[in-house]
Amino acid sequence: MTEIYTVERANQFIQKNKDEVNRKFKPKHHFSAEIGWINDPNGFVYFQGEYHLFYQFYPYDSVWGPMHWGHAKTKDFVNWEHLPVALAPDMPYDKDGCFSGSAIVKDDVLWLMYTGNVEQEDGTIRQIQNMAYSKDGIHFEKIAENPVATGDILPDELVKSDFRDPKIFEKEGRYYAVVAAKHQEDIGTIVLLGSDNLIDWEFESIFLKGTPEQGIMWECPDYFNIDGNDILMMSPMRVKQKHYDFKNINSSVIMTGKVDWNTKTFTLHNMKELDHGHDFYAPQSLEDDEGRCIVIAWLHTWGRQLPSHDLKHKWAGSMTLPRQLTYKDGQLLQTILPESLQSLSKIDVDDNPISSGVLEIDINGNLLMRFGSSDDYIDFGFDKEENLVYIDRKGLKRLPKGDETWEISERKVQIQAKKLLILFDSNSIEIIVNNGEESLSSAFYIDGEHYLQNLS
Ligand code: FRU
Repeated sequence: MTEIYTVERANQFIQKNKDEVNRKFKPKHHFSAEIGWINDPNGFVYFQGEYHLFYQFYPYDSVWGPMHWGHAKTKDFVNWEHLPVALAPDMPYDKDGCFSGSAIVKDDVLWLMYTGNVEQEDGTIRQIQNMAYSKDGIHFEKIAENPVATGDILPDELVKSDFRDPKIFEKEGRYYAVVAAKHQEDIGTIVLLGSDNLIDWEFESIFLKGTPEQGIMWECPDYFNIDGNDILMMSPMRVKQKHYDFKNINSSVIMTGKVDWNTKTFTLHNMKELDHGHDFYAPQSLEDDEGRCIVIAWLHTWGRQLPSHDLKHKWAGSMTLPRQLTYKDGQLLQTILPESLQSLSKIDVDDNPISSGVLEIDINGNLLMRFGSSDDYIDFGFDKEENLVYIDRKGLKRLPKGDETWEISERKVQIQAKKLLILFDSNSIEIIVNNGEESLSSAFYIDGEHYLQNLS
């Protein structure tokens, strides 16, 4: 029998069951759902004076299931208010999941564009794009014209069943969406769709096709421009490993380049891993009311064991702290928002035990720090000989092993580190190196009180 999913059923379930969640490892300063599983941030947008965050959501269990869109909002990127579920997979064109997508505001109406995932009778998958809108920012209506774009509009060189995660933007009065597609040659590809009214969408171009080394599928693409620099941000699967980079099967990258708006194509100049920790995926951006480019990501990734699920805590997954992307001297920086920093207590090794807060360290030589208890901890620090900032999860009792068949308990990034900003929460660490030149984000599930020690 097929399950019937509706927004009402999801909201009732959440209200009835949210108090049963075991909060032992739940983050204090990072966004997480009231109950259930979350993955990608979706529809991150400024609407009527507040910032809305939607997310891939399965309320009924702490594992991935038929995707809904969870919903929350904030005025300051620090305090989040949970809102009713925005979308449930309740239509023939999204019956097996309301997959990732984005939001845009037009004439004071909040529009969502998302992928409907449909398993057909012959077992094949169909991924199609749909629209929904809301005037009050709480209740959403799917439009009668859905689906607004199907695989039929794609050129034959693309696989029609891998067509997902539209990110909408507006340029000179026309709406566009970058959408993930897969080339027949198993190569990540981004297509550009265009529309004048958000309802009739047409294929514009293959915006960028990758190379085999750059991954087999580029999930959750995002396009924006910072200070005249065209940027594609996305999450490729199976990028070829390079030194210490791309050790996770699922990575996130920043691509800098130049868009030719006549041919509607993106010329790639440089591709860089966006975060070098174990858990950072599907980042999405918004432009805030001051014009800042703010990015939030899923602080987890695919194919990893999730202790909060294994322990039946009834929740899984959180978001990173929001980060601002800026350009300085030709380099892209990601910095933690001043709003977040003000809300976190400054910590020191003398403050033990420590549950959450922010620590700043000036690097003068080798650094080895340990966080946790005597038999359950993570190490992190800086190796001065090799210029490596690292997070090492080998000391964890609950090592969230992944689908990776190679050693991955340690993640590192090569950089001459001068300064580390380290953000601790109940189950995560985010390290920002040299005021934003690199970052490493990882999750952990450590029992008991947490102690910070400097072992260097
Ligand atoms: C990325 C992703 C998307 C998809 C969604 C499904 O994490 O695989 O491509 O839309 O998750 O939950």
